[in-house]
Amino acid sequence: MSVASHLGITLQNYDRQIRTLIPHYDEMLDAAASAVPPGTRRLLDLGIGTGALSARCLRVARHAHVAGVDEDADILAMAKARLGRRATLIHGNFVPAALPRTDAIVASFALHHVAARATKQALYRRIAGSLVRRGMFVLADCCPARDPDLAAAQHAQWRAHLQAHYSAAQARAFLDAWKGEDTYMPLETELEMMRKAGLTPEIVWRRDAFAVVAARKR
Ligand SMILES: C[S@@+](CC[C@H](N)C(=O)[O-])C[C@H]1O[C@@H](n2cnc3c(N)ncnc32)[C@H](O)[C@@H]1O
Repeated sequence: MSVASHLGITLQNYDRQIRTLIPHYDEMLDAAASAVPPGTRRLLDLGIGTGALSARCLRVARHAHVAGVDEDADILAMAKARLGRRATLIHGNFVPAALPRTDAIVASFALHHVAARATKQALYRRIAGSLVRRGMFVLADCCPARDPDLAAAQHAQWRAHLQAHYSAAQARAFLDAWKGEDTYMPLETELEMMRKAGLTPEIVWRRDAFAVVAARKR
């Protein structure tokens, strides 16, 4: 499914509208980019979208070159326009793909498209396998609490953010549509899977259901 139809937006409005859909979007991407080691040369962005996270990473890792994977050709064209020669863009699915040897890997709001825990665990193993020793994996995503009451409160906070920009009915419709397509694994589950894959995760940013995790290859 294309990004535009998944999110229910016009693609050209993505960079503006994503902030109305995801609370703390800019803060999260800034936190994720800050976790990328400045000496990074090869950076892989899984689900690069318009290149918003990669652009920030390139300001931190000034000599890096980005390899960006995305299955949506239209959004890749937007990443190309933004990143130019500092990125190689790859049209494809990152789940079965062989990942290149790399210094750092980032993924923002892309891995919640991986629904099955076993598939995500296998992806984390391949991420760890493709990183150089002490390489860094950075995840920015919705990773709610495991406790059901806390998770419900976090969900209500997300709905309140949507209702600051849309009607209550529109907000509900967005959340209902994403519920059928996205899988937000609890933060504790994410951390367990990363450890099992040979990474050492640290939570570098956390607010409501959203988190940025920096996980170093052991
Ligand atoms: C919500 S967007 C996030 C884009 C960008 N990382 C950001 O933070 O704005 C998710 C992106 O991941 C891509 N994506 C999702 N699953 C994918 C997969 N299995 N393989 C490649 N791209 C995928 C989508 O096409 C989309 O561009």
